[in-house]
Amino acid sequence: MFMNDETFFCTINVFIFVLQNVINTFTQTAKHSRCSFYGNVNVGKDVTIGELQQAYHAVILSYGAEGNRRVGVPGEDLRGVYSAKDFVGWYNGLPSCRELSPDLSCETAVILGQGNVALDVARILLSPLDALKKTDITQPALEALAESQVRKVLIVGRRGPMQIACTIKELREMVNLPGTRPEMVAADFEGVPEALKDLPRPRKRLTELLMKTAMEVPGDKELERRKNATKIWGFRFYRSPTEIFADPSHSRTASIRLAVNRLEGSGERAQAVLTGEVEDVSCGLVISSIGYKSLPIDPSVPFDSRRAIVPNSVGRVHQAAGLYCSGWLKTGPTGVIATTMNNSFDTARSLLEDVDSGTLDISTGKPGSQIVSMLLEERGVKPVTFSDWEKIDSLEMRKGEACGKPREKLLTVEEMLKVART
Ligand SMILES: NC(=O)c1ccc[n+]([C@@H]2O[C@H](COP(=O)([O-])OP(=O)(O)OC[C@H]3O[C@@H](n4cnc5c(N)ncnc54)[C@H](OP(=O)(O)O)[C@@H]3O)[C@@H](O)[C@H]2O)c1
Repeated sequence: MFMNDETFFCTINVFIFVLQNVINTFTQTAKHSRCSFYGNVNVGKDVTIGELQQAYHAVILSYGAEGNRRVGVPGEDLRGVYSAKDFVGWYNGLPSCRELSPDLSCETAVILGQGNVALDVARILLSPLDALKKTDITQPALEALAESQVRKVLIVGRRGPMQIACTIKELREMVNLPGTRPEMVAADFEGVPEALKDLPRPRKRLTELLMKTAMEVPGDKELERRKNATKIWGFRFYRSPTEIFADPSHSRTASIRLAVNRLEGSGERAQAVLTGEVEDVSCGLVISSIGYKSLPIDPSVPFDSRRAIVPNSVGRVHQAAGLYCSGWLKTGPTGVIATTMNNSFDTARSLLEDVDSGTLDISTGKPGSQIVSMLLEERGVKPVTFSDWEKIDSLEMRKGEACGKPREKLLTVEEMLKVART
């Protein structure tokens, strides 16, 4: 996004979350007379960061985390093993994940990791089709889920119930998912009731809900609901994956070996330590959901490969005057929309402080968007404007309306460009 006062350039962080006020804010900003929107431009390839810095006084990198962390165990590349990043991209209509076609012909799925993404994936695998039909999930995903044989989802974590990474709202949605019942292992909760009183409040409430779901005998209504459930989900704690095995005849996933852990230390910082014991779980689908990671896009920008972030102080990129960052690229892949929003306000404040203090020199003019447009044209790159995007948006909405969904997404870049340019 280019600001026409010739001062700022931001790469846009594309969030999958479809929150109306987020959409409204983006639309308002993109339509602002001092803002230019350039879609379908690959920064680092079509235009370099150095060129943007020559065009603008400040460049803010906010391109998120499009890589995923690998579990790093043998069998991770088998058919039937997917990253949550690709799986989520597939049901959300990301063009690069269109061909994923996950094999859902098994009964049991194992999800590695216990964050909100893991819960999102579990919910998609287990949700009643009628509920999914009203969302903007893609038609191919809907058709594949209609044929899915998955009846049980195990969400596996290397640490214990008091270290679970999801948040209470997402856990509650899982607990209340129609047609499903929870199935946990009572031994995983040993010592938790005693530790409850010393937990900080949000963690305490989350653990209480977890314990209630796992241990309490439910009331009549809930009992009836669980009795009628046809699908099962459950957390498995203190388990780390060590190997994924194939079915010898079909070379697809057949089971996963989990090492049994114990905890050293307590609270958020407790560490999982191997006990030497292992157990095998039969499953035909493994989805690893152990976190996303940012990727470097331009060799001229400092990048901390170990932490997969751009090294920065409150959004000021180290050793790169005029370069700023925000979002997951700045902090690592953590936090909900509000966290990311506040984090971007901090970066904006840093930038304004630098203008005030003179650290960011804006005394001489910069050519701004004109020069960028010129460079793109020279290179044969035809950007998508905001009104082009609005054509795609309105077609997707109309297609969705025709089948009772909020939106039916276009699934290839070619289709999108065709619509944008008509
Ligand atoms: N509805 C929403 O608001 C929503 C939806 C989706 C995502 N988000 C947010 O997006 C952020 C990213 O979510 P996320 O679920 O991808 O990440 P996350 O919350 O960081 O969870 C990652 C999970 O993977 C585990 N893990 C990490 N490395 C591992 C390893 N080597 N072996 C085994 N397990 C490992 C973690 O366990 P340890 O704790 O032991 O490291 C944790 O359970 C989060 O802040 C999340 O809240 C929010």
